[in-house]
Amino acid sequence: MSVNIKKIGIITSGGDAPGMNAAIRSVVRSCAFHNIDCIGIYRGYEGMIEGDFKKLSARSVNNIINKGGTFLKSARSEEFRTKEGRQKAYAQITKENIDALVLIGGDGTFTGGMLFNEEFNFPIIGIPGTIDNDIFGTNYTIGYDTALNTIVEVIDKIRDTASSHKRLFFIEVMGRDAGHIALNVGVGAGAEEILIPEEDLGLERLLESLRRSKKSGKSSSIVVVAEGDKIGKNVFELRDYVEEHLPEYEVRVSVLGHLQRGGSPSCFDRVLASRMGVKAVESLLDGKTNFMVGSINNKMVLTLLKEAVKTHSKINKELLRVSDIMGT
Ligand code: F6P
Repeated sequence: MSVNIKKIGIITSGGDAPGMNAAIRSVVRSCAFHNIDCIGIYRGYEGMIEGDFKKLSARSVNNIINKGGTFLKSARSEEFRTKEGRQKAYAQITKENIDALVLIGGDGTFTGGMLFNEEFNFPIIGIPGTIDNDIFGTNYTIGYDTALNTIVEVIDKIRDTASSHKRLFFIEVMGRDAGHIALNVGVGAGAEEILIPEEDLGLERLLESLRRSKKSGKSSSIVVVAEGDKIGKNVFELRDYVEEHLPEYEVRVSVLGHLQRGGSPSCFDRVLASRMGVKAVESLLDGKTNFMVGSINNKMVLTLLKEAVKTHSKINKELLRVSDIMGT
C-alpha cells in the first residue's frame, strides 16, 4: 500500500555514532530518488520543538559518508519528555508540512518517537544508531563496528606499555548497561579477563583468574571492564582491590571515554547505514509506521518499535565461551 507522503523529516538523537552521517545521506538520497522532499531537523527533539529545520537535497549530503558524528547534531531534550513539548514539536512539524519522520538513534530516541506517534498518529520509522549494539531487532546497530575497531586499536597500544612494564591494566569501555562492546573487544584484543553486566564474574573468580595468568607465565594482563559491569567496584576500586590482594601486580587504569564514539565510520557501518536509510524511506512510502529497520542475517527487516525498546539484544553465549577458552 503506498501512501501520500510528500515530505520526510530526519532527526538524529541520543549519543552520536560513526555512520549516522551515512544514514542521513541515504535517507536524503532515497527521498530524492522517489521525488519527495527531505527536511533535516537539527539538534534532535530540541531542534524539532524550536523548528530548527533545513531542506536537504541530494547534493546537501555530498562528502559526508566518511565523516563521524552527525551533521544534524544531537541533543537530549527534557522538554520533549513533556506533552507540551511534544505539542510544540508537532506544531512545528505540521507548519513545515512534514508527513513522516525517520528517527536515527537508540532506545531513548525511539521511546520519544513512539509517544509522538501515539499522541499525533504521526508516521515514524527508526534506524538503530548507537555504538552500544544493545537494541533488539538487529544484529548490528550503526556505529558498533567502527567503535569495536577503534577500541581494539587503542587496547593494542595499551598492551605495548603493559608488556613493557609487566603491568595489569583495567580498561573501561562504553556500552551503557550492555556488554557487547566489552566482550567483542576483549576477545579481539586478547584480554585476559572481560567483565560484563550480563555475567557476574565475582571478585574472587577475578583474583583466581589473575593468579592463574601469573602462574602460567603471563607477565602483563589486560582486563576489559564494561562501564555497566556489576562486580560492585569501579575500575579505580578494582585497581586498589587487586593491589591489596595480589601485591605481585603493578596495576594501572585506562577509561577510554568518548574517543570510542569518534572517527570515520568503517566500510561495514557505511554500507549498513546506506541499506537502512533506503529501507526506512521505502517502508514509510509503503505505509509502514512504528517499526525499526534492522539487519538480521544480513537481511533488512522491520521490528515493531515497542518490541525493539522493550528488551536488550542478548549477549552472544558462544562468544562468551570462546573468551573463557582464550583465557587458558
Ligand atoms: O549510548 C552511547 C553511549 O556512548 C554509551 O555507551 C555511554 O554510556 C553514553 O552514550 C554516554 O553518554 P554521554 O554522551 O551523554 O556522556
